[in-house]
Amino acid sequence: MLKERLKWTARHANRHKHTGSLLAHCNFVLGCERSVTSKHACPGIDVRKDSAMKVGIVGMGWVGTSIAASLLTRTTTRELYLSDVRPGLAEGEAMDLSHAAPFLRAAVVRPATLSEMHECDAVVIAAGRNGKPGESRLDLLRDNASIVRQLGEALRGFGGLLVVVTNPVDVLTHVLLDASGLPPARVIGSGTLLDTARMRHVIGTELGVSPQSIHMNVLGEHGDSQVAVFSSASVGTMRLRAWAGWDRSRETALAERVRWAAREIIARKGATNHAIGLATAYLLKWALADEQRVLTVSRLQEGAAGLRDVCISLPVIVGRAGATQVLEPDLEDAERAALTCSAELLRRAYGSVAAG
Ligand SMILES: NC(=O)c1ccc[n+]([C@@H]2O[C@H](COP(=O)([O-])OP(=O)(O)OC[C@H]3O[C@@H](n4cnc5c(N)ncnc54)[C@H](O)[C@@H]3O)[C@@H](O)[C@H]2O)c1
Repeated sequence: MLKERLKWTARHANRHKHTGSLLAHCNFVLGCERSVTSKHACPGIDVRKDSAMKVGIVGMGWVGTSIAASLLTRTTTRELYLSDVRPGLAEGEAMDLSHAAPFLRAAVVRPATLSEMHECDAVVIAAGRNGKPGESRLDLLRDNASIVRQLGEALRGFGGLLVVVTNPVDVLTHVLLDASGLPPARVIGSGTLLDTARMRHVIGTELGVSPQSIHMNVLGEHGDSQVAVFSSASVGTMRLRAWAGWDRSRETALAERVRWAAREIIARKGATNHAIGLATAYLLKWALADEQRVLTVSRLQEGAAGLRDVCISLPVIVGRAGATQVLEPDLEDAERAALTCSAELLRRAYGSVAAG
């Protein structure tokens, strides 16, 4: 069997000489217990029969690399395609990640073209840039919108899930939806998935309870106008506001801590990457395993909470077919008003780039 694998690897190496990805490729293939795909497989085994995931990532900066590492360590990703405009970056990351092979399930990690991304079950877009000091949010929006638009056009006809994390993520979800022409359920923004995780952590730390037992959503924009929904928050089955000693007057301060969390981190280390890396990996894991989890992600809204024609986060059931069923959130008047404002702000931002 080993002889056969070595022969296959040598044949494969010749075929992929031009990509320069041989090193990454061989390390993984030699380490594999079972094959990985029809095209890049060790002979004889079709991994699509297990829950193997084939994922592409476009944009291999701080965020893209963290998503890649999280996918390899936390999910059944068996093929990871990486792409970046910076020459050599995707290849270098593939080589580096491949050296973790002895500690992981077998996987193929390699640089890939955008047209190869069409083979994936899901493609994550983390390409773009962060804001520079002194420039307006609109400048950043224009630049990232133009990148995401080009990527969406290259991914027209894609058969899997498109997940965008590039900021401003809600507006870019809408831009990607337009450019790719895919159905709304299959174009998902990471939205307030990360903000919800941050809020669960903040409340859990306040109460001395695991964040996993804190049930609370942050809805709306992944950004300044996000809405922390305290009115329906619970600790296990108990309403948060019924928790002994819970001080409602502190809710605004807790919401602000989450709202400004990214800025606090960026001021110290220049980017945020680990939590979004894990959040995105789990989004893909649950979606591709068709778990039908309720998650706060961004998608085009079609009437829930009175919102339509805007990409924004509400609770939505996510499975292999995408973010399919948006749930009507239970909101107090003030929360509903804040959500409406958040949607209006996003609608205007989208309007400023929609025409291209
Ligand atoms: N949604 C969230 O919760 C969340 C969290 C953190 C960061 N972000 C956003 O993610 C994005 C990436 O952040 P980062 O810190 O990784 O930035 P980064 O600058 O480190 O990486 C961006 C990468 O995209 C690449 N790129 C640019 N244009 C490209 C193109 N057309 N095709 C392929 N690659 C391209 C760049 O070469 C670079 O390697 C930013 O917009 C950031 O604001 C979102």
